[in-house]
Amino acid sequence: MQVIICDSREQVGVRAADIVEARVRKGPAVLGLATGSSPAGTYRELIRRHREEQLSFREVTAFTLDEYAGLPREHEQSYYSTIRREFVDEVDLPLDRLLTPHGDAEDLRAEALRYDAAIREAGRVDVQILGIGANGHIGFNEPTSSLSSRTRVKTLAGITRSDNARFFPGGEVPQLCLTQGLGTIRDAGQAVLVALGANKAAAVRAMVEGPVSAFCPASVLQLHQHAVVVLDPEAAAELQLADYYRRAQGLNDRLLGR
Ligand code: F6R
Repeated sequence: MQVIICDSREQVGVRAADIVEARVRKGPAVLGLATGSSPAGTYRELIRRHREEQLSFREVTAFTLDEYAGLPREHEQSYYSTIRREFVDEVDLPLDRLLTPHGDAEDLRAEALRYDAAIREAGRVDVQILGIGANGHIGFNEPTSSLSSRTRVKTLAGITRSDNARFFPGGEVPQLCLTQGLGTIRDAGQAVLVALGANKAAAVRAMVEGPVSAFCPASVLQLHQHAVVVLDPEAAAELQLADYYRRAQGLNDRLLGR
């Protein structure tokens, strides 16, 4: 696992965008897109590069990580609407190549199987962008999720529902969701996890320096060959080996001529 500790939130967005851009510039690519506040700076930076540096997403297919059960796509807080608003509608990614689980499907279990199969049929996700929940979830794989799980219906943890209540003023956060599984996420060629702020520091420590455990689902990334974790100083505050990660990153940047 590569750990990059940045000096600011803006730099986190730039670093994560660098990884996405490197893959997109190579030709047709499959991207995995997280929603939520963590990757917002990454998407803003990618939109800027699209507008100012001719970074094109015309040959990209994108799969989102998860969706609330019961919300139609048109709902303002569906992850389909959110990812369109925050990224897809601002670049030239063809809308018919934005794929998301349908949260309002009549048969949610069948929808989960369909979505997992669609990802496999696309080859694989080349770069998966991730955030982390304060409880260590990635996607909506809450603690005790199987490390080999595939896309399926999950019950949202209490802390996830209260963290996301800010997006549902006057309404209830759904109880259920569809989420790519930890096994599905592990199939991606590269994983880039972005974490910001002090409320993520404990989860980040458990993910990077704790044991691989279903109790911290993000720790499954320790088993991934190409996982990069990009942090602001607050999210990195509890890391025991922070000095080592900074030194290793400095040497790596020098090798790459940054
Ligand atoms: C969203 C997702 C979640 C979030 C996580 C952090 O698609 O998969 O795992 O990344 O809940 O959310 P934020 O970034 O809003 O703190």
